[in-house]
Amino acid sequence: MNQPIIILSIESSCDDTGAAIIKDGKLLSNIIATQDIHKSFGGVVPELASRAHQQNIIPVVDQAIKKAGVDKTEISAVAFTRGPGLMGSLIVGTSFAKAFALGLKIPLIEVNHMQGHILAHFIDNDTSEKSTEISSQKTPSFPFLCLTVSGGHTQIVLVSNFFEMQIIGETIDDAAGEAFDKAAKIMGLPYPGGPLIDKYAKEGDTKAFKFVKPKVPNLNFSFSGLKTGFMNFINNETAKNANFIAENKNNICASIQQTIIDILIDKLTLAANQTGITQIAISGGVSANSSLRNTLHQLSEKLGWKIFIPKFEYCTDNAAMIAITGYYKFKNNDFTSQATIPLPKYSLNNNNMI
Ligand code: KG4
Ligand code: ZN
Repeated sequence: MNQPIIILSIESSCDDTGAAIIKDGKLLSNIIATQDIHKSFGGVVPELASRAHQQNIIPVVDQAIKKAGVDKTEISAVAFTRGPGLMGSLIVGTSFAKAFALGLKIPLIEVNHMQGHILAHFIDNDTSEKSTEISSQKTPSFPFLCLTVSGGHTQIVLVSNFFEMQIIGETIDDAAGEAFDKAAKIMGLPYPGGPLIDKYAKEGDTKAFKFVKPKVPNLNFSFSGLKTGFMNFINNETAKNANFIAENKNNICASIQQTIIDILIDKLTLAANQTGITQIAISGGVSANSSLRNTLHQLSEKLGWKIFIPKFEYCTDNAAMIAITGYYKFKNNDFTSQATIPLPKYSLNNNNMI
């Protein structure tokens, strides 16, 4: 009988330290340590993130191995996030993965974090619940479009197979998650503000306030003008009424959230029309947004799209998505040398090294 393929994966690109174990494509454990320290700073502080990764990585990996019920000598390879992300954060995961692989004399597999977000749709846990919504089809079939929306990225990716992915549209400035977080910060809400805006928006009127949407050509996005417009709006209104935010919190959240969703959906619709592809997936932290999910459900009925949304815990940063990508790369004999270095800017298109 063939040896099982057991992958240990490490994710440390931003402010979450994650480790997961996958055996023959089935997820056995997925541990994440989030770093609360950034909350009081209103955003991720790179230096503090890297220190927290140093503290968390050993206990997180230890827990992942124990929970999976495997012995470390059974592990076939170590997969790690090589980029994109914060250099100080990536270096902790990369160095740990190298040392672990060297110690056990097993291969290393580098993973592009954005590829991981996309392949999160193929994570198979024991309940065999993959990315499932709407249809009985559990995973997208190739080719599909993936809208990857996180704190650091906003991309529309044409996914031809597990390894061939082309960015056909992306933000020219801020990411969608950043737009949520910055709007929240302007309102005095703690970081990360996206989930809070989502929560308050549920009780608000999406048409209460109007914000100007950017005019960006092709399939690209822009969110920095919206942020400035929002800041001016809040400053003007609070100059007239110091309690403006407190009195209108739900309506402000609903209106800014709707504007961000409209910007995303307009470009996604354009991409679907241009490519003729109707299998549409979303991934990344912002895909946890309940209104974005509802809008996609409605569109699937209206436009005949097949929509795929990962399970909630696989939307935000996690190591399970690095493990599934590592598993496919292992089967493809795609390994990395010990001389590898982290790539803070690592494009899906051309493996850009900056
Ligand atoms: O993918 P992720 O965990 O980390 C990055 O790679 O950036 O995404 C984090 C981003 C943050 O900007 C956070 O505010 C946003 O995802 N986010 C949300 C929601 N949950 C997380 N944004 C809007 N609504 C949510 N429910
Ligand atoms: Zn991410």
